[in-house]
Amino acid sequence: MANVIIVGTQWGDEGKGKIVDLLTEHADLVVRFQGGNNAGHTLVVDGKQYVFHLIPSGILYESKGCFISNGVVIDPQVLLNEMEELAGHGLPVTPERLLISERAHLIMPYHKLQDAGSEASLAAGRKIGTTGRGIGPCYGDKVLRHGIKLGDLLDRELFREKLGQCLEEKSFLLTKRYGLEAPKLEAIYDEFMGYAERLAPFVGNVSLALDRGRRAGKHILFEGAQGTQLDIDHGTYPFVTSSNTVAGNACTGSGFGPAHIDAVIGILKAYTTRVGEGPFPTELFDATGDQLQRKGGEFGATTGRKRRCGWLDGVIAREAVRLNGITDLAITKLDVLSGQPELQLATSYQADGATLEAMPNNIKTYDNLKPVYEKLAGWSEEIRHAKCLDDLPAKARAYVKRIEEFTETPASIISVGPGREETILLRNPFIS
Ligand code: GDP
Ligand code: IMO
Ligand code: MG
Repeated sequence: MANVIIVGTQWGDEGKGKIVDLLTEHADLVVRFQGGNNAGHTLVVDGKQYVFHLIPSGILYESKGCFISNGVVIDPQVLLNEMEELAGHGLPVTPERLLISERAHLIMPYHKLQDAGSEASLAAGRKIGTTGRGIGPCYGDKVLRHGIKLGDLLDRELFREKLGQCLEEKSFLLTKRYGLEAPKLEAIYDEFMGYAERLAPFVGNVSLALDRGRRAGKHILFEGAQGTQLDIDHGTYPFVTSSNTVAGNACTGSGFGPAHIDAVIGILKAYTTRVGEGPFPTELFDATGDQLQRKGGEFGATTGRKRRCGWLDGVIAREAVRLNGITDLAITKLDVLSGQPELQLATSYQADGATLEAMPNNIKTYDNLKPVYEKLAGWSEEIRHAKCLDDLPAKARAYVKRIEEFTETPASIISVGPGREETILLRNPFIS
């Protein structure tokens, strides 16, 4: 039995969806434990592309149990759309296949308006560049203890009462502060009662179900969203998302005990990308950055925004290993680096005359921060066909080896293309 957590090590979009899909073959149960439909996880199976925002990527395997646990925030319309889309692909999502936690909080229409209003009201340079999906306001209400849970939806009276209370305050904020129109209680109530009817068969106690699975010897895969530098506590605050993205939250976010975790896989893109605003020390503003963006197809899977691109940042990679307890790295998109004559790896930063080996806490420090680079040789060969380490050019192997040395973590998976088969699997955490 093995229970494995998969997390992003950078600013999201590292290729988590692909690796989760790949490893799901060896898992029995797959859990999304945080974030919401700000996530966009892309899988390419038999040449067909799927993008998941809420449902665990494991849903493509018909025999696997999928879970959306308490740490996730749910926009019911998005969830239902995703289910319909899957049904359209001949993959009906039934209550036998998907269990959703009654404790997961609901993204309400006023959360999305609040997200938009808040972003619009921030001055240039202070905007977060959110996905506009209402994520921050929803988690905010959860912490303020006036959020509405999925389970509340199944109790009509409780839902109406909570909605009434929330709407009073939100209407004031939306109209007076943001100059927006407040949504009407009756309209939201009717809309959400429709969702209640459709979602009721899927709602239950995820923690209990996972515990039963664990006791029965099932292998559980926890699918993280976003990335370590977007973590609300450990990321480049305030330019972060509103949940804990680190591995520890796989437990809190699903009601699963940490002692039962066997491995943590950190997904590390062979270079770095970021969507939205905020510090990005190794960002490239030149032709190389454009090449990575084009060759890597670096457009947001959720918002379609162009992703900012830069060199691999070893400081961030080391930090991710520490913050998540990463046991194995999955290095993705190595193929995108083919053709670069020379590669750079940031090994520390210089800021205000000091050398930094960890991400600074004070956001202003980033204004004067310069990465210290180590140069590595590039390779010209295309590598998407590679099935084992020996199929890689020596310089690509040396790049991987240097990452392993620098992070003191083995690369157990190397991804050389978006397809399931375009992978070098060196160690399977579910087996060894
Ligand atoms: P996620 O949010 O971490 O799941 O990542 P995204 O799906 O948002 O972005 C990763 C993109 O890279 C997707 O379009 C994937 O299909 C693609 N991808 C994943 N692994 C590889 C790889 O090794 N090589 C290439 N070229 N593309 C990859
Ligand atoms: P996956 O799971 C990349 C970024 C947004 C913004 C910040 C806050 O696909 O890796 P939010 O809407 O969460 O309040 O926005 O976080 N962001 C992501 N960037 N990948 C993601 O998810 C992201 N989810 C949120 O761009 O900068
Ligand atoms: Mg993504």
